[in-house]
This record gives sequence, C-alpha cells and structure tokens, in this order.
Amino acid sequence: MKKNITKLLILLGLACIAFPSYAEEVKSLRGTRDLDAGSEPPEIKRLIADDRPIPRDFVQQPPLIPHKIDGYHIDKNYNKCLSCHSWTNYKQAKATKVPPTHFQDRDGNELANLSPGRYFCTLCHVSQLDTSPLVGNEFEPVKALR
Ligand code: HEC
Ligand code: HEC
Repeated sequence: MKKNITKLLILLGLACIAFPSYAEEVKSLRGTRDLDAGSEPPEIKRLIADDRPIPRDFVQQPPLIPHKIDGYHIDKNYNKCLSCHSWTNYKQAKATKVPPTHFQDRDGNELANLSPGRYFCTLCHVSQLDTSPLVGNEFEPVKALR
C-alpha cells in the first residue's frame, strides 16, 4: 500500500515537470513568430491583356482565353462572350466563332442553337494570369502540335 502511494507521488511529480515543457512544444504552422513579422503583401497578379490565341497543348484542349474577362457576365438571360464569339457577331468583333462542336448535345445530336452544356463558357475556357509558375514544369505539347 505504502509502496503504491510513493509510486503515485513520483508519477504525479514527473507529470508536473513534463507538462509545462510539453505545452511549449505546441506550435501553430506559422511557428512562434508574431503575426506581422516578416510578412509581405501578396504579389498582385495581372490578367493577361488582349493577346493572340495561346498555342494549345493537346488537340482536344479548350483553348485558353487570351484576353481579360473581368466584368464579362454570364447568366441565364445574357452571355457576354457570345456578343463577340457567336456566329452572328464574330466577324464584327474579329473574334473566333464558337465551333460547331458547341452545337451538339451530349449524345452528339446537332442542335439549332448553342448546347446548354456549352453555355457557361468559363466552365472550360479560362483566362490567364501574367505570373511566374509556382512549380517548375517540363510538360511538352503532344507531337501533333509541336
Ligand atoms: C469584346 C469582344 C470579346 C468578348 C466579350 C469575349 N471575347 Fe474571347 N476573344 C475575342 C477576340 C478578338 C479574340 C482573339 C481572336 C484572335 O486573335 O484570333 C478572342 C479569343 C478568345 C479565345 C481563344 C480562341 C482560340 O482559338 O485560341 C477564347 C477561348 C475566348 N476568346 C473565350 C472567351 C470567353 C469564354 C468569353 C466570355 C467570358 C469571351 N471570350 C469574351 C473577343 C472577345
Ligand atoms: C464543356 C466545355 C466547353 C464549354 C462549356 C465551352 N467550350 Fe469552347 N471549346 C471547348 C473545347 C474542348 C474546344 C476545342 C475543341 C473544339 O473545337 O470543340 C473549344 C473550342 C472553342 C473555341 C475555338 C474554336 C476554333 O475554331 O478554334 C472557341 C472560340 C470557343 N470554344 C468558345 C466558347 C464560348 C464562347 C463558349 C461559351 C458560349 C464555350 N466555348 C463553351 C470546350 C468548351
């Protein structure tokens, strides 16, 4: 009995010594630096301005958008992209017209108008930021496009 109490006391003592040092080891991902120490404002990323079409990397790739699209609204009543890219307007806007593939439904049936699945252009076509890549990349386009 006496032995057990001594053991308990020793354990308690050890726990008291161990606990504060354990608490000190808990760190946030940022470490123990102050919030504003060594912080830099994030780089401002610019959308590429109007440019020539960007070369594709594989044949079926939705081409990247070589111009700014901020403020180009797409909702169920209006699609700003089509004011330049539709078959009615492309000539005047000197833009590329939406290709015939965008007039097919998912079963390959030809439609008289743009397929609803292609209406929200930015699901597939994305604009580009003028910024250096975060990680290196040795990707090369498929042979047919080199
Ligand atoms: C004010 C007219 C205008 C609007 C609005 C517009 N575009 Fe464009 N777009 C252009 C022009 C001009 C080009 C370049 C054509 C060229 O140089 O061959 C272009 C190029 C593109 C290309 C590249 C085509 C290729 O063959 O590489 C894509 C993709 C594209 N636009 C998508 C969009 C999307 C998506 C929207 C809506 C968010 C949009 N555009 C809105 C005028 C416009
Ligand atoms: C589901 C994905 C998807 C959506 C949504 C989509 N596209 Fe595309 N788009 C593609 C793919 C893939 C290609 C390349 C293959 C092809 O021509 O079909 C392409 C090609 C294009 C091209 C190049 C045509 C050429 O002759 O080189 C233009 C311009 C374009 N799309 C405009 C648009 C516009 C404008 C919208 C919205 C009204 C739109 N796309 C919606 C996938 C999409």
